[in-house]
Order: sequence, then structure tokens, then C-alpha cells
Amino acid sequence: MYAEVLAFEAALSVRFDWVLHVGDFGVWPDPTRIDGATRRHEGAGDFPTWFAEHRAVPRPTVFIKGNHEDFVWLDAQPSAEVLPGLHYLRNGQVQELRSGDEVLRVGGIGGCYGPSDFERPSASLQGYAKRHYTRDEIVGLAARGQLDVVLTHDAPAGVPFEQHRRGPGYTSEAAGLDELLARTQPRICFFGHHHTRLDSKVAEVPCVGVNKAPHPGCLIAVEIKSGERSWRVLAEWPTRKHDSEHQAR
Ligand SMILES: [Fe+2]
Repeated sequence: MYAEVLAFEAALSVRFDWVLHVGDFGVWPDPTRIDGATRRHEGAGDFPTWFAEHRAVPRPTVFIKGNHEDFVWLDAQPSAEVLPGLHYLRNGQVQELRSGDEVLRVGGIGGCYGPSDFERPSASLQGYAKRHYTRDEIVGLAARGQLDVVLTHDAPAGVPFEQHRRGPGYTSEAAGLDELLARTQPRICFFGHHHTRLDSKVAEVPCVGVNKAPHPGCLIAVEIKSGERSWRVLAEWPTRKHDSEHQAR
């Protein structure tokens, strides 16, 4: 991912202050523990090597969990900074992003919606069930004060998809995430999981769906200044031309 981030920076002639990641980062410190879906698709990726070498990430990064990570390992970490510069934002928690005098408050709800687990206490979820978020995590985050940015892995309920593996016109049913946005009114929400680049609105909050790497719209450069409601998209990456080159390789 960072090769793409650095290429994007070079194309824009900027240096990003922070990288925000919406989950399925691929946190598999032990490649023998990867789940079946990850094994069938991308594999364990670079994380085991980076972890073994205690390598610093090239840009400060905050990530939430997706539904394919080593959740047990993540929850067992004594520090949110799982590698130098790489910060795990736990469900219901807030991280302050600082850059000079600017401070942005980012809240996170990772994992996907699971109807059978949603009303259970978060602390009762074990093993693979930790891929689901819970209502108590959402209530906890909503009580933590004003937020500038919310990161969710699943799409907040109500987000419509023109194309979706569940059929055209599918609308997200990820309960609770819409209530979170209604209650906290962040300036922007980013989500992933659905492998679709789209713009929507839930509870008047702009919701930006981020595509799966390396497809167009997997990286979005956004300028957000503290103390203002507005934000702007600088550019997206990769371009379609770049993507077709990617797939031709
Ligand atoms: Fe996912």
C-alpha cells in the first residue's frame, strides 16, 4: 500500500500528514494464522515481514479493523502503536491527529455488521466473532464528544450501491453506524468493505466509500483543516489508466 501512497504523493507534489485506513489492513503477524478468505485472495501480505523487522511505516497511519485481521492479536497489544507510526484505532475510541497547530479528532468503528452479535456486549465476543462491531461500542464512541472524522469498515445503513454482489440497488443494512453519524455529526465518514468508490450521505453526513487496492479510488487525498466544517478532495488514486496498466501486468 505504501508504494501507492508515495507514488500518489509524488504525482501531487505533496506530503500527506496522515494516512487513514478503513480496515482489512492485513494484520497477520503470524502468517500461519491467516483466515481462509485471506488465504484464498491476497495472502498474508507484507505485515509479517514488517512486524518481524519492527519496521516503521513511512507515513503516520491510523487504521481500524476490517473483518479479515488477526483480531485476537490486535486486542492483546498493550499499545495502540503496533509498529512505529502505525496506530490501531479500537472500536469506540478516538485518536487525535496532530499536524502543526491543527488537531483533528477521529473516531472508529471497525468490523462489519453481524445481526447475531450486534446487541451482545463487545467484551463477550471471542475469536472470529470479533469481526463484528457492537452497539455498546457505538454508544461509547457517541459519548466521546465532538468528532471531525469517523472511520467505519462497513457502510453505514442507508448507503445505496448501484452495483453490489448482493444485487444492483442493494442498500447497506449495517445498523448502528447510521445512528452514530446522526448523533455525532462528523464532517466526513470514510468506509470500505464493499470494494466500491462512491459518495453518499447518511444523516446529512458525507460518506465516502473507498475502493479496494489497487483499483481507482482506493486512495483519496483529502484536505481537512481543524476548526472548519468544510473539506475538499484533492485527488484520487490510481487513475483509470494506471489501473489498466496494473491489471495488464
Ligand atoms: Fe471487509
